[in-house]
Amino acid sequence: MELLLLVFLLLAAMSAAVESITSTAVKTGCQERCGGVDIPYPFGIGPGCSRHGFELSCVSNGSGAGPIAVLAGTSIQVTRLSVEPAESQVMLPVGWQCYNTSQPTRTYPDWSRAKTEMNRGGVYRISNTHNMLVVLGCNTVGYTESLRSEGGAYSSTYYTGCMSYCNNSASAQDGQCAGVGCCHVDIPPGLTDSSVNFRVYDHTGMVDYSPCDYAFLTDRTNYSFRRADLIKMDKNRNVPVWLDWAIRENGSMSCAEAKGKPGYACVSVHSECVDSTNGPGYNCKCTAGYEGNAYAPDGCTNINECDRPSDYPCHGICQDTDGSYDCKCHRGYQNSGDPKEQPCSPKFPLAAQIALGITLGISFLIVGLLFILMMRQKRRMNEYFRKNGGSVLQKVENIKIFTKDELKKITKNNSEVLGQGGFGKVYKGILDDNTLVAVKASIEVNDARKEDFTNEVIIQSQMIHTNIIKLLGCCLEVDVPMLVYEFAANGNLQDILHGDNNRRVPLPLDLRMDIAVEAAEGLRYMHSSANRTIRHGDVKPANILLNDKFKPKISDFGTSKLLTVDKDFTMFVVGSMGYIDPVFHKTGRLTQKSDVYSFGVVLLELITRKPTIYDANCSLLIDFQKAYEQENSGRAMFDKDITIEEEIFVLEEIGRLAMECLKEKVEERPDMKEVAEQLVILRRSRKSRQGNYNISPQQFEEMSTEGTPLSLETAVSVSSSVLSAPSTPANNDFSNA
Ligand SMILES: *[C@@H]1O[C@H](CO)[C@@H](O)[C@H](O)[C@H]1NC(C)=O
Ligand SMILES: *[C@@H]1O[C@H](CO)[C@@H](O)[C@H](O)[C@H]1NC(C)=O
Ligand SMILES: *[C@@H]1O[C@H](CO)[C@@H](O)[C@H](O)[C@H]1NC(C)=O
Ligand SMILES: *[C@@H]1O[C@H](CO)[C@@H](O)[C@H](O)[C@H]1NC(C)=O
Ligand SMILES: *[C@@H]1O[C@H](CO)[C@@H](O)[C@H](O)[C@H]1NC(C)=O
Repeated sequence: MELLLLVFLLLAAMSAAVESITSTAVKTGCQERCGGVDIPYPFGIGPGCSRHGFELSCVSNGSGAGPIAVLAGTSIQVTRLSVEPAESQVMLPVGWQCYNTSQPTRTYPDWSRAKTEMNRGGVYRISNTHNMLVVLGCNTVGYTESLRSEGGAYSSTYYTGCMSYCNNSASAQDGQCAGVGCCHVDIPPGLTDSSVNFRVYDHTGMVDYSPCDYAFLTDRTNYSFRRADLIKMDKNRNVPVWLDWAIRENGSMSCAEAKGKPGYACVSVHSECVDSTNGPGYNCKCTAGYEGNAYAPDGCTNINECDRPSDYPCHGICQDTDGSYDCKCHRGYQNSGDPKEQPCSPKFPLAAQIALGITLGISFLIVGLLFILMMRQKRRMNEYFRKNGGSVLQKVENIKIFTKDELKKITKNNSEVLGQGGFGKVYKGILDDNTLVAVKASIEVNDARKEDFTNEVIIQSQMIHTNIIKLLGCCLEVDVPMLVYEFAANGNLQDILHGDNNRRVPLPLDLRMDIAVEAAEGLRYMHSSANRTIRHGDVKPANILLNDKFKPKISDFGTSKLLTVDKDFTMFVVGSMGYIDPVFHKTGRLTQKSDVYSFGVVLLELITRKPTIYDANCSLLIDFQKAYEQENSGRAMFDKDITIEEEIFVLEEIGRLAMECLKEKVEERPDMKEVAEQLVILRRSRKSRQGNYNISPQQFEEMSTEGTPLSLETAVSVSSSVLSAPSTPANNDFSNA
């Protein structure tokens, strides 16, 4: 026998009351809460407060306790309402049948609780996602049926249920609802209401432990089976059931149909329409980033996502915007992806920070050290400058004081070495005006020699003669002062005369004559200094430089040997082997005649083109003197390149002059002035003998100024005055310093 049971919820197709739904009337003047339940529109209590079908009543439940909210026109209590379609909850009664103890095949139902009508507006559906059907009993099939069907095979559209059986009184177990004493089953969507039915089975022998069968819809997670419920369960008990709801009007329109039509429910800005997932119709919801009541004007409000980090994560600085939010990493942090999704990492990891710190520290240290070194260097440079007589030399007009840096620039950091000087390398340099210069080390200057050094530099700076290498400047900011000289492109006479055979240039007699004359002129100028006894001290071919036009320039004068001026005696070893005046050798007395002696050797080399020691161990000087004493001629020794008889005659004359210079007795030697004059006369007489001799304008000029011994005298006196005049104030400076 089959019985239709308790809960009978009718779908009410007809509308009970037509209410005007105006968006403005939504909340104002309407009850917001009842019995602890919030009542958002479209729900409402009273006329004009709800949308059609969503009417509620707030009633006293009669026990003197507070009021409860019920679906209007029913006693179905509402425990929760929400604008979210699946979040509304009502309390529904439990369906049951009991077996007659004396007639265990007969059941008795309680009809008094039936006939509850719900869903008159047709807006509700029993949530299939939140609810299940539970059947209790030891020998039963319980099921629910719903949605009356017109003209179908059965009276309803949906039937669903489950069977439960107990082998004996001990079979059912607490917490187990899987077919023994209890079973449960999912329900389909679309249930508008629910009636519960049971199949009736013979309960003989069971009535003791299972007198009744129960069936009810309830929250999927809410019910936990207890065996005790089989014997004694409150038949008046209500259980929570979730309801879905949707706007279902005028043929239950979908979103597409409802939009733009009068009565469209989604009235709020930032709202959107979604089709119902449980039955026809639609729901409204706020668009992403907004929340609130999409059914009320301006019901959707911006979400301050930053206040809800669990829902809206941000691994950085959160900034709310209208409808969304910005999330940026904190300063110093970065994210390759989205900081809303993954944590930011420091831009500079600790290791990098430490590394950076260390690097910076070291850099500061290095900079500091460099600074200290620079200061020390600067101080040292200043010390050198002072030590080397900078303050005095600064005032000398003819020379320029170079700084260490300028000198570096001039010599391109000592990139081109010209040769080896007496005290270090000689470097080629180039000044700003493209003048070529030679830069070489002087001697080391200490306090004792400071005055001598400055004196020498001053004298050198005043030696202005075309046949004396010109001192252009000096650099004092170094331990050993560097001197900057005019550059001589063709090197020195030593190399020209005795250099490698393949580099050996032909030396015609006229060129030799010019070199002899002009070198003598240079020395003569030097010796003609008025109030000083200036000597070169180291006359030799290596110290006679030749410029690009083979004009001889006396060099390595003074400083490199630092003869103490005004004194004839020197403690320093000066001169070079083979050129040293034997008198100086014996007495240590160096005179201008010592230069004459050395120049005599140079003349011998010019005419013989032999070095002072030739053919391994032959002495040019001794051999020449021997030849000269024996044959009154040096002819045997002359350079074999010169063959013309006339020229050999000139060589003889020079050889004779050289012999004069090389005389043992100092007073028998000519002085430089006489040597120069003799050489000039020799050259002139040779030129006048040469009919076809080409005289260059330059040579002509020289001849016209140096033409006579008288004009030579004039030149000497002029040079002397040039030499002596500025030296007087400079001398005063010294005594002051
Ligand atoms: C009235 O409400 C109270 C508490 O909410 C409940 O205990 C009582 O059973 C209710 N009475 C009726 C008649 O529903
Ligand atoms: C059980 O059945 C007996 C006999 O038919 C009947 O008299 C009795 O009223 C029933 N009891 C109930 C509770 O219906
Ligand atoms: C089923 O019930 C009978 C009678 O009480 C009992 O003898 C039997 O052992 C039960 N079977 C199981 C598997 O519990
Ligand atoms: C089941 O629902 C009722 C009523 O809402 C509630 O009082 C009870 O705590 C719930 N039980 C569980 C286990 O959720
Ligand atoms: C439904 O139809 C009635 C009358 O037919 C009309 O007054 C009402 O505005 C309609 N509702 C909607 C939502 O279209």
